[in-house]
Amino acid sequence: MVLATENRTQLVEEIQEWKKKRNAIILAHNYQIPEIQDIADVLGDSLALARAAAETDADVIVFCGVHFMAETAAMLSPEKTVLLPDLEAGCSLADSITADELREWKAQHPNAVVVSYVNTSAEVKALTDYCCTSSNAVDIVKSIPEDQEVLFLPDMFLGQFVERETGRKNMHIWMGECHVHAGIRPHQVKDVFKANPDAELLVHPECGCSTSSMFLKSEGLLPEDKTHILSTGNMLKQSRESEANSFIVATEVGIIHQMEKQNPDKQFIPANPDAVCPFMKMITLEKVLAALKENKHVITVPEEIAEKAKLSIDRMIAIG
Ligand code: 13P
Ligand code: SF4
Repeated sequence: MVLATENRTQLVEEIQEWKKKRNAIILAHNYQIPEIQDIADVLGDSLALARAAAETDADVIVFCGVHFMAETAAMLSPEKTVLLPDLEAGCSLADSITADELREWKAQHPNAVVVSYVNTSAEVKALTDYCCTSSNAVDIVKSIPEDQEVLFLPDMFLGQFVERETGRKNMHIWMGECHVHAGIRPHQVKDVFKANPDAELLVHPECGCSTSSMFLKSEGLLPEDKTHILSTGNMLKQSRESEANSFIVATEVGIIHQMEKQNPDKQFIPANPDAVCPFMKMITLEKVLAALKENKHVITVPEEIAEKAKLSIDRMIAIG
């Protein structure tokens, strides 16, 4: 155990040295393992990380997240070197729609506006009008004229959440899902809430329980003022700003490390302790060090795809 701590300290020191040498910045998503969260220069949700990638003056961005996030960073900062420490870090949600499938869907609805969640490949983004994240999906759909048909993809739970929040009747939703969030079921949230009736409920809109949580809230079966559907960044904000002492966390459990760190006197209870994203957990300190030393794995997007995709990403950042 002592050796493990020594190893970790040494690894962190080496990472810091290499960061300086290469004028690099480490961006990490809220679902990363604790050791990675602790070395991040910017830790955040998808929107915050995209913004940080666009704004940084570092030469190298080490992206501790998944492939589509590194791709987005590469399109926002094409003059920088973007490194993903493990190429296998993909996303089951992003894989749920291909560019060919989207082309076919668009052909069936030629006048529709396409809104894609940021969890999509660069090729899919290149066929998209507006990109969105969980923190601005509602605002983006609200900004589209009401009489305009919308194709929303790829997450069905986020789509249903947006449909309900905007009251929109002309939205078509792709039936994709993230296997991690979809696995957080309504009955689990209800059971944990029953056992912790004073807790506030923080739900990510990608969750299998998000639609029913909204329904239960509107029916008065979950407390209106204590049920919040939020992006991971806004979950962290809510847990800092709320006066509640305990929180039920319905999202990937990696975020709890940060919640506990920021609020040592509060209690955080996972709605489903098995909600673990295997892709997010692939990034380790060893791989971050190797990425910096060996300049791997460089993420690039072909210019003709990036040019089109960037329009939809820029709109997402502007509305954010
Ligand atoms: P946010 O952090 O933007 O809420 O997204 C969650 C997610 O699933 C990222 O893969
Ligand atoms: Fe993709 Fe789900 Fe993992 Fe997020 S938690 S990266 S949506 S598989």
